[in-house]
Amino acid sequence: MDDVSIRAASHEDVRKLIEDRYDRHHLLDHLHHRRGILLLALVGEGLAGHLFLRFAPPEEPELRDGLPGVPLLQHLRVMERHQRSGVARRLLAEAENRLRALGHGRVALGVHPDNHRAIRLYEDLSFTAWRDRHLATFREHVLEDGNTVRVQEPCLVLVKQLAPPSG
Ligand SMILES: CC(C)(COP(=O)(O)OP(=O)(O)OC[C@H]1O[C@@H](n2cnc3c(N)ncnc32)[C@H](O)[C@@H]1OP(=O)(O)O)[C@@H](O)C(=O)NCCC(=O)NCCS
Repeated sequence: MDDVSIRAASHEDVRKLIEDRYDRHHLLDHLHHRRGILLLALVGEGLAGHLFLRFAPPEEPELRDGLPGVPLLQHLRVMERHQRSGVARRLLAEAENRLRALGHGRVALGVHPDNHRAIRLYEDLSFTAWRDRHLATFREHVLEDGNTVRVQEPCLVLVKQLAPPSG
């Protein structure tokens, strides 16, 4: 865990380090459209995890209207062999620090209601439900030939209040 470093990523980093077809496709698209910052957790030169901080308005109209100007955390993933050693916590802490420094008072994210591991992590970090009702959203799967298909998915939206930076 001590040898984990976190830094913002370039397109080149994504091409070199991110093998998962879904993450690679969407992260390259987000960076291309300058929707936010991609944080990478690295152990040496190897990828341990990633998290995207989205400043562009969300795709879902309900989120655009209900949480205007609130950045969204997306694409949190920790590689299997690095899981359960605090990498997600480190990525989330770095994201929160950066957002506070930029003057944001709140952050939001969406999680599948069955993803108990992730929900436990977020609740532990003081994220709370934005509303009880799930949001109907779409997950855009990337096929082997590069085409995408949209599959409807429920999403639990969580928010967190960010304290102003100290000092
Ligand atoms: C969810 C995920 C990001 C957690 O990453 P991680 O680096 O293993 O998490 P951490 O080591 O920082 O653990 C933080 C907390 O998360 C929770 N957690 C993580 N893995 C867990 C597991 N297998 N079972 C139960 N709780 C778990 C625990 O509360 C844990 O705290 P603890 O270790 O003190 O009990 C990782 O499992 C993952 O990449 N999953 C697949 C992708 C995903 O679901 N992303 C979230 C999308 S919203």
